[in-house]
Amino acid sequence: MSAAVLYCCDPLNPRRVDEHFGLEAREVRARGGTVALIDHDALLRGDAERAVARVSGGLGGVWYRGWMVPSDGYAALAEALGRRGCELLVTPEQYRTAHELPGWYPAFAEVTPASVWRPAGPREVLAMEDLAVLAKRLPPGPGIVKDYVKSRKHEWDEACFIPDLADEAGLARVVRRFVELQEESLAGGVVLRAYETFAESGSVRSVRSVRAETRIWWLDGEPRLLTPHPDSAFESELVPELDRIGSAVRRLGCRFVTTDAALRADGVWRVIEVGDGQVSDLHQVSDRGEFAALLVGS
Ligand SMILES: Nc1ncnc2c1ncn2[C@@H]1O[C@H](COP(=O)(O)OP(=O)(O)O)[C@@H](O)[C@H]1O
Ligand SMILES: [Mg+2]
Repeated sequence: MSAAVLYCCDPLNPRRVDEHFGLEAREVRARGGTVALIDHDALLRGDAERAVARVSGGLGGVWYRGWMVPSDGYAALAEALGRRGCELLVTPEQYRTAHELPGWYPAFAEVTPASVWRPAGPREVLAMEDLAVLAKRLPPGPGIVKDYVKSRKHEWDEACFIPDLADEAGLARVVRRFVELQEESLAGGVVLRAYETFAESGSVRSVRSVRAETRIWWLDGEPRLLTPHPDSAFESELVPELDRIGSAVRRLGCRFVTTDAALRADGVWRVIEVGDGQVSDLHQVSDRGEFAALLVGS
């Protein structure tokens, strides 16, 4: 039996798939897959029962495909589905591992920029001394800040890029601004990462650009699909070197993950970010049929 796929419903019309995932869901149905709907807004409000109210019982193993869900919300979703005889094919533990940097970092340490982190709550004002101690565990030079899941790359100078990790005042300013802008959505805590310079077609790319990132979709440890990063303006023509990344993915042991790979200026492929494949976005040019076949065929 092919797996069913749970999509987020359209907030204005709960009987329909959210427009962002509409084409993908149609392709799943066209391949004989079952599509069911959950209410993402209800899940984020903490009402997992309501979120799954439209899921009919006994679907068996299901993938989720939709907007990101905090790890606790995913665990609540799994429980609510379990009461209806449905089992998420990615366990809550696997989801957290792939979704949050402290979960995936140990498996990827050799192939991703050096990173350190500390837990923090929304709007927490972090002491400059504590941040300085944290930053000292990274090599000297520039860095970036993000939370366990997301950065604020679109506010690069203000809330992402740290020109010099040893400049305590500068470090505290960027990190505090990041925390402030994340508001309630701050996930888990604060991550500091050593900055690395990535290349694009032989030239150093703009630090803001994600053009050269290639998203690799791994199912059960195998690279099944390569797509341009969803934020990139162009289709990437670069094919990453997969051996070392594949070893890291298999160490991670999660069923369905994405890795965003970029070519460093010295010609080494690096993983910028790992994600759970269920909540990773596709580039608008990517073939939804090919993607649906991955979900349904497994
Ligand atoms: N360690 C790093 N060195 C250089 N650039 C980085 C580093 N980490 C992130 N970036 C840049 O910032 C962007 C956003 O970082 P990322 O970790 O992918 O966060 P997000 O979850 O917001 O996409 C990346 O696409 C990349 O261009
Ligand atoms: Mg990213």
